[in-house]
Parts: sequence; structure tokens; C-alpha cells
Amino acid sequence: MKIFHNKLDLHNCLSKYGQSSKSIGLVPTMGALHHGHLSLVNFGLNDNDFVVVSIFVNPTQFNNVEDLKKYPRTLERDVKLLKTVAEEEIIVYAPTVEDIYADNVTSKTFTFGGLENEMEGAFRPGHFDGVGTIVKRLLEIVKPQKAYFGQKDFQQLQIVKKLVEIHKIPTEIVGCPIFRADDGLAMSSRNERLTSKHRAAAPFIFKTLKSAKLKFGTESALKVTEWVTKQFENNNLLELEYFLIADVETLKPVKRKSTKKTYRAFIAAYAGDIRLIDNIALN
Ligand code: PAJ
Repeated sequence: MKIFHNKLDLHNCLSKYGQSSKSIGLVPTMGALHHGHLSLVNFGLNDNDFVVVSIFVNPTQFNNVEDLKKYPRTLERDVKLLKTVAEEEIIVYAPTVEDIYADNVTSKTFTFGGLENEMEGAFRPGHFDGVGTIVKRLLEIVKPQKAYFGQKDFQQLQIVKKLVEIHKIPTEIVGCPIFRADDGLAMSSRNERLTSKHRAAAPFIFKTLKSAKLKFGTESALKVTEWVTKQFENNNLLELEYFLIADVETLKPVKRKSTKKTYRAFIAAYAGDIRLIDNIALN
């Protein structure tokens, strides 16, 4: 498995593949890899000759300094895990902050047709400017035919699709299903930081999403939201930050249900001081 820490070395390697017209997929990550990430890599390997997995804890997308400091950095372990999937066909790009940002560690300002103002955008100011900056940079550096993003971060996926549309970047963005632990908890690098008590409580999030989906078949979004809020009020280990049923195209909260639209329910909740997000397709 080839591992590069700067874009020049990566370019030298990728230009050889370009010359032999091999297809390249990109899976952007912040490392601390788990089976959710590996599922994206597998989708990439199915579609392409090679997959570049970028591992970079992007400082500009963290709105909380402590969160950035505590974010796990486990490159050696990550590489070992990737080797269980494939060796020859995976290229790891684990750049330094300087390689990406030179001496200007700031994000550009983006608009994504309003998608950036909802949910995570409202609760994490500046977050999607940071995501837009790093994803655009990675797409420009790697120039993949396809790039793979998880529906786990559904708003991010929609924003990245908007990013390539607005900036006419010739990469197809592929959304991949949410990979879950056996008890339903969506896999996340943050799960490792949960106390055992909070880890045991966390599957409640997906359980509640599944019940909300059932209820949404017969009840209004408002009624379902009230019900979910109550469930969390009765749970003293998890604190709800938001629950929202939104139109997948605009990510705006649904007011009146329409059979012509596609909806998803979204949750952000704290388990102790760890913030977890999850979502589910409703129709
Ligand atoms: P990170 O949280 O490491 O996630 C990398 C990719 O893995 C994202 O596309 C995310 O949606 C996907 N992913 C995470 N958990 C998943 C799961 N349980 N099932 C399926 N996919 C999952 O998202 C980021 O990093 C960053 O914002 C990044 C896009 C790399 C930009 O810095």
C-alpha cells in the first residue's frame, strides 16, 4: 500500500495511473477509520481501478477547539485496517496541514443554495465552509472520476453534490448507505470516546428514528417531533439537540407533507459530551 504525505509525491504516482487511463475513486476521511469508512472504500473499489483514501483531520471544519484537539489520530491503525480490504489498489494520502493550507489555515466562504444554513450549519457555525474548502481542495488534488460520501452525514453529502455542481467539478459524487453496529448505532469515530454507560444508551437514537419513521406514516411532522422530544426528555443519558423531518432536496423542515417529496428524519444528540448524529429515510 502506497502512503503519501504531500501532494507532489501523490501527483507523481497518480499521473502514472492517468497515463494508463486507470480510473481513480476518492474516499475523503478524517481517519480513526471504522467499518463505515471501509464500506465506502469497498464501494470505491467496486467502481474503480484504484481508490485514494485521504486521511486528514481538517482544522477549518471544527467549530470547537477541544473537539479538534481530542479528535483521534491513528494513522498506523488506519493503514492496518485498510490493508484488510486491499493492498495494491488503495493509495493513502495523509497530508500535513501545510501541504493543504500552506501558511493560511482558513476556510473559503461558500453558499450551497441555502443547504448550509440548516441543521449542522445552524448548530456548527463555519463548519460547512471548512468542509467545502477541504473537499474542493481534495477533488482538485486527486481529480477522481468518482468520490464517495456516507449518508451518515447526509447534509454534508448534499452539500458536496451542490459544491461540484456550482463549481463545475468533473467528479461524480456517490452517496453510500449508513453502516451500523449490530445494535443499530451508526458507526462513528466519536463512538470510541463514549463511556460504557453512554455507549449502551446510544442505540436509543436509531431506535427512536425507526419509531419516528413508522409514526410519520400516519401522523404530522409536528406530532412526530413532539413525540421524539418527549422520548428524549425521559432519557437521562442522552440530550437531544435537534430532531427534524426535512425535504431531502432543500433540507428545510417539512410543514405540510406532500406525496411528491422525499423526506428524511435527522437527529443530533449528546451522549455525555460526545455529539452524535444520525438520520433515516422516511419514504
Ligand atoms: P469522517 O467523519 O471521517 O467521514 C468520512 C466519510 O465516511 C464521510 O463521507 C462520512 O459520511 C462517512 N461515514 C462515516 N461514518 C459512516 C457510517 N457509519 N456509514 C457510512 N458512511 C460513514 O466526514 C468527514 O470525515 C469529513 O467532513 C470530510 C468529508 C473527510 C472532510 O474533512
